[in-house]
Amino acid sequence: MKKLLLPPLPLYLLPLFLQIATLLSAPIYTPVEDITINCGSSGISPNIYDNWNWTGDINSKFSPFELHQDNTSTSSQVRDAPPSSSVSQVPYTTARLSLSEFSYKVPLSTGQKFIRLYFHPVSYDPGFHRSKALFSVQAGGFTLLHDFNASVTADASETETLIREFCLNIDEGRSLTITFTPSRAIPDAYAFVNGIEIVSMPTNLYYTASESHGVDYVGNKVNYRIENITAMEMVYRINVGGSALSFNQDTGMYRNWDSVVDEQKYLDDLSSRWTVLPQNVSLQLNFVKIPEYSAPQVVYQTGRSMGSNHTRNKSYKLTWEFPVDPKFLYLLRLHFCEFEPEIMDTGDRSFLIYVENQLAEPRADIIMWSGGNGRPIYRDYVVFMPAGPDQKKVKLFLALQANPRDWMTKYNDVLLNGLELFKLSDTTRNLAGPNPEPPPPKPMQPKTPPKQSKKKSTPMLATVAGAVSAILVLLCVLGFLVFRRRRISKDTDDDSFLLSGLCREFSLSEIKAAPKNFN
Ligand SMILES: *[C@@H]1O[C@H](CO)[C@@H](O)[C@H](O)[C@H]1NC(C)=O
Ligand SMILES: *[C@@H]1O[C@H](CO)[C@@H](O)[C@H](O)[C@H]1NC(C)=O
Ligand SMILES: *[C@@H]1O[C@H](CO)[C@@H](O)[C@H](O)[C@H]1NC(C)=O
Ligand SMILES: *[C@@H]1O[C@H](CO)[C@@H](O)[C@H](O)[C@H]1NC(C)=O
Ligand SMILES: *[C@@H]1O[C@H](CO)[C@@H](O)[C@H](O)[C@H]1NC(C)=O
Ligand SMILES: *[C@@H]1O[C@H](CO)[C@@H](O)[C@H](O)[C@H]1NC(C)=O
Ligand SMILES: *[C@@H]1O[C@H](CO)[C@@H](O)[C@H](O)[C@H]1NC(C)=O
Repeated sequence: MKKLLLPPLPLYLLPLFLQIATLLSAPIYTPVEDITINCGSSGISPNIYDNWNWTGDINSKFSPFELHQDNTSTSSQVRDAPPSSSVSQVPYTTARLSLSEFSYKVPLSTGQKFIRLYFHPVSYDPGFHRSKALFSVQAGGFTLLHDFNASVTADASETETLIREFCLNIDEGRSLTITFTPSRAIPDAYAFVNGIEIVSMPTNLYYTASESHGVDYVGNKVNYRIENITAMEMVYRINVGGSALSFNQDTGMYRNWDSVVDEQKYLDDLSSRWTVLPQNVSLQLNFVKIPEYSAPQVVYQTGRSMGSNHTRNKSYKLTWEFPVDPKFLYLLRLHFCEFEPEIMDTGDRSFLIYVENQLAEPRADIIMWSGGNGRPIYRDYVVFMPAGPDQKKVKLFLALQANPRDWMTKYNDVLLNGLELFKLSDTTRNLAGPNPEPPPPKPMQPKTPPKQSKKKSTPMLATVAGAVSAILVLLCVLGFLVFRRRRISKDTDDDSFLLSGLCREFSLSEIKAAPKNFN
């Protein structure tokens, strides 16, 4: 045990970290369908981190079909990622690639689904240079990606791998066909994909239920309805002021939540960075107004406010700026939960919410919405993003301002716990936007070995944060074991002990079980 735990190598600790996280959070929602296709591979391949089985698309029920099946020069091929690649987990190790169109047909039951596409844009030799990956993706009659340049997209986001998450509704008795088409913009363009995941979602988690009156449409008097004929693409999902949550820490839908490290990049004012509220792990959440699967508990137990001094400059606006594609509607979901003990009643913390510089909420009062402290709630807004002055991306502004009218609020303060932003398909059933600009060339730097997170390569800062949290968890576990050993001699019947606010509660059996899966 000691030998195993001594060197503090983050990569090596990741399985322990995730294992513990998995043990501690049983899924709240169990999807009816959870299909994972490992493209360019055969048989069943488990992901080394979570043992989740991915089914190969070679000679399986998920084998793709092609327009010219008898013409070998145009049929799709499979390749392994180069051995030099630092990404070594399923589904990124193999790819299906083609100079012509190919499709996957997946039988599915009726209902709303997440479709996740996994890309690892490297050069797949022989024949497929990374800069020539330029293609479109269609699914269920929607254009999900158009002339998508995978390599420049990865370079711009400083990641080695890409996940694109979409929401679609599948009509009765249908299957879903996902088609990959190389671009005609350059002669030798090819299409490729490493993994496809399809997961059912709770009905109307994001779509508008028939009995609902719809979503606030910012700047419009009428509400907006997100109907089943709409497709969506997730563009941001953030645990505001909190840690990153990987797919197996979600409520059962395998969503990834970005951390405070990512969130800070979108704050307009760096001095706002220090206004994170510490997590109160002893707070019991009470899901009264929204289903428990809406977001993981941790999302509601962390947040960002104006800071510990509740009376900051009353005209100050805590502002995030999210780069998005223009000329689309967006669904913005804000997650809230009052968890500070002094905020108990309506009027304790009332604030203003601006979306895209328009007053979306003249009197945001989380307690009024949710019914009490420790009760999670979310609010949805739909907003249209017009084109900017000839730039590819425009910024969607979200600003929270303390209520300047003292008689309306006890504390002149604001709060946000989590955020999700989705792009909605337009009238041409399109979701695709332009490719990002290539990143500016960087001065030479010593190469830092990239960390591999599960299904997603995180940017450098997040890597550091991940490593730090992994080490913290390790220290907690070590501390626990040492403490436990001492404690056992005195008191043998208490099976779990809370170390500190940083650690979660581990039972002895959980601690014993954890190391088994990674010898
Ligand atoms: C993956 O497949 C193996 C054998 O095919 C099986 O033993 C294992 O339980 C499966 N894992 C999961 C998570 O379903
Ligand atoms: C294969 O397809 C290519 C392009 O579509 C075409 O030029 C070629 O003639 C085809 N070859 C055969 C044997 O059908
Ligand atoms: C949308 O489709 C789902 C099933 O896919 C159905 O349960 C729901 O009622 C539909 N919504 C509306 C508004 O018709
Ligand atoms: C795609 O991006 C790469 C950079 O990774 C660039 O070299 C290439 O020219 C781009 N392709 C097109 C068609 O824009
Ligand atoms: C944490 O939550 C509990 C239960 O609501 C509360 O009694 C306690 O004061 C809170 N602690 C902090 C530091 O806010
Ligand atoms: C909070 O900030 C205000 C204005 O900056 C200041 O007057 C007040 O003394 C501060 N209160 C505390 C408790 O620090
Ligand atoms: C309050 O903040 C605004 C914007 O940040 C600034 O223009 C104004 O001068 C500040 N007022 C005071 C009294 O600090």
